[in-house]
Amino acid sequence: MPLWFNRCYAGGVLISDLPTPCALVDLEQLERNVRRIADKARRLGVRLRPHVKTHKCVEIARIQTDLHFGGVTVSTLAEAHAFAAAGFTDITYAVPIAPQKIAEAADLHCEIDVLNLLVDHSDTVRAIEETAASRGLVLPVFLEIDCGGGRSGIHPDDERVEQLARRMFEADSIEFRGLLTHAGHAYRARSRSEAFEVACEERNLMTALAAQLRDLGAPVVELSVGSTPGMRAIDDLSGITEVRPGNYAFYDATQAAIGSCELDEVAFSVLATVISVQPEYGRAVIDAGALALSRDPGPVHVDPDCGFGRPVAVEDQHPLPGLRLSALAQEHGTLAGPGIEALRPGTLLRILPNHSCLAAACFDRYHVLRGSEVVDEWRPVRGW
Ligand SMILES: Cc1ncc(COP(=O)(O)O)c(C=O)c1O
Repeated sequence: MPLWFNRCYAGGVLISDLPTPCALVDLEQLERNVRRIADKARRLGVRLRPHVKTHKCVEIARIQTDLHFGGVTVSTLAEAHAFAAAGFTDITYAVPIAPQKIAEAADLHCEIDVLNLLVDHSDTVRAIEETAASRGLVLPVFLEIDCGGGRSGIHPDDERVEQLARRMFEADSIEFRGLLTHAGHAYRARSRSEAFEVACEERNLMTALAAQLRDLGAPVVELSVGSTPGMRAIDDLSGITEVRPGNYAFYDATQAAIGSCELDEVAFSVLATVISVQPEYGRAVIDAGALALSRDPGPVHVDPDCGFGRPVAVEDQHPLPGLRLSALAQEHGTLAGPGIEALRPGTLLRILPNHSCLAAACFDRYHVLRGSEVVDEWRPVRGW
């Protein structure tokens, strides 16, 4: 029977037995990463609602929410359904909801305790009001604030913040939950101290905006913030009620480059096999391309030569500075650098991806390791 049908893992399966490319999760490192942030959230007096988009995996979310209130954040309704089916009853869908998906979200909200929705536009607010009113429901909704990331949300000084907050507060069919933001620009930091500045700004901006809205009579119950660089850097979250980091379960080469973690804290890697070695042409090739690693350019603002991921030793994940993953095609990854001389077809390498959330999404299963032994196989949620 091919190895990938063996779900028992009664012992004895080693990394070297796995078909490549494949996704590896280092369980002990994952547990350390999760514990550190769980302890920090408790110490800073905020609720931890981890974002599960990084792994989309119920087993990992259970470890993350252990000893916390059990809430999670998702980025697709497919994740919301799967986590609800696995027993998670307090979920925030942290993407502005498409009007076409409101009915589906309302149904799911009725099945569990809470499915919080997110909006940044009056048309969406109207669509939620209509759907909720037609079903006799009250749907919980956050207003998204753009605190500098520039992705979605309303700028804090835009008059529509007050208009939408007031409208939701006054609506019979909406429970206005509060404000939510994600400081995506923390990824432009070059060090933990720069990420600290971004996280402080995020906190200050959100608490000031909440105070302003409260003065105008729109009660803001929740202030939800969070990113992994911010959560690693910040030491005071006064006024904030919850945090939603996600990447910290795995980390990746980008987090290491911007100072959120050390390289040996990365708990997710892609196992690859060398399939071509041509030192005469200055290259070797692995069987992990863009469909195994994604094409994330990585932390080029810190290291213009970072390549498409960090090659590390298969046994203990120590860095291999003589190798650079210089190019990716669909199924090929090209290695360059003096280290290619030591490679042979069949050599196994691990690659620490530039962005573990994107790389993990390339796989339909994670091989779970304790040391070099494969102890389990976890199936993440896929689709939208
Ligand atoms: C809305 C939202 N919240 C939280 C997170 C988690 O941030 P991170 O991946 O830095 O942990 C993300 C990630 O993109 C996000 O989009």
